[in-house]
Amino acid sequence: MSGSDKPRSPAATDAAQGDAASLLNDREFARARQLIGEYAGIKLSLQKRNMVYNRLLRRVRANGVGSFADYLDLVQAESSHEREAFVNALTTNLTAFFREPHHFELLAGRAAARSRKGLPPMRIWSSACSTGEEAWSIAMVLRESGCAGDIHASDIDSEVLRTASTGVYRSERVMDLQPERLKQHFLRGTGANQGWVSIRPELRAMARFSQLNLQAPHWPQQERFDVIFCRNVVIYFDREDQKRLAARFADMLAPGGLLMVGHSESFPAGHPAFRSCGRTAYERVTA
Ligand SMILES: C[S@@+](CC[C@H](N)C(=O)[O-])C[C@H]1O[C@@H](n2cnc3c(N)ncnc32)[C@H](O)[C@@H]1O
Repeated sequence: MSGSDKPRSPAATDAAQGDAASLLNDREFARARQLIGEYAGIKLSLQKRNMVYNRLLRRVRANGVGSFADYLDLVQAESSHEREAFVNALTTNLTAFFREPHHFELLAGRAAARSRKGLPPMRIWSSACSTGEEAWSIAMVLRESGCAGDIHASDIDSEVLRTASTGVYRSERVMDLQPERLKQHFLRGTGANQGWVSIRPELRAMARFSQLNLQAPHWPQQERFDVIFCRNVVIYFDREDQKRLAARFADMLAPGGLLMVGHSESFPAGHPAFRSCGRTAYERVTA
């Protein structure tokens, strides 16, 4: 899988060689864990100390503050501009085109059936879209199936959303795609843009991106979705939050709609509105 995790500055990497524990003490580490839990629902284990140290060190330096304690004060200050950067720094954004391909096969079947019936555009939500590969993979499947689509893609991390909505990727990120797919859905950069590919306008017209925190008490009012992708994000949430999310997704799905979850996730299982529908996929049943 191609990674899209946080870039590391040489300075951060150098510093990581040092003793992180002595620089990010127990108190500030606990504070950082508590704050990311509060803002994003992300529960970081005690083993993540080096990761937290490395990622926040860049923010400490960017803000020119002298310590992690001062930095966290900045994050916590009322109407803080640094809070968003703090959240961005601590999210994990690993993703890939057609990651967990069985979901896209299931989607292709649904999309083809819908296109035969001439129904309105399929409404799909990629609810933790990271740098956009998931949402664009969905768009490719719909286009290949001749099915009109209305794709909403969201993430809490404003930085990855910028890449997602730009739809421009390094060529290495698409090297595992079938050549047919590449030709049909991407434009290859030339000249100064050599080594980059860009999503074709036909796909762009199907998707829109916005910032959304899955833990926020209210989400924007929406028509129900036919499919929701919520993959590889609830692993960072605790069980109570996962349960709450399953109930909220049930309300957001049309009857017969699908909820796709990550390979190590099963949070919709046991909720009466869902029945298992193949590997890590759940169907909204009319209760
Ligand atoms: C590992 S990536 C998964 C990307 C994609 N769904 C996939 O499976 O390839 C997890 C994403 O969840 C996002 N995330 C974490 N907490 C979130 C929250 N509370 N609300 C929305 N997105 C969140 C992160 O910013 C990150 O981009």
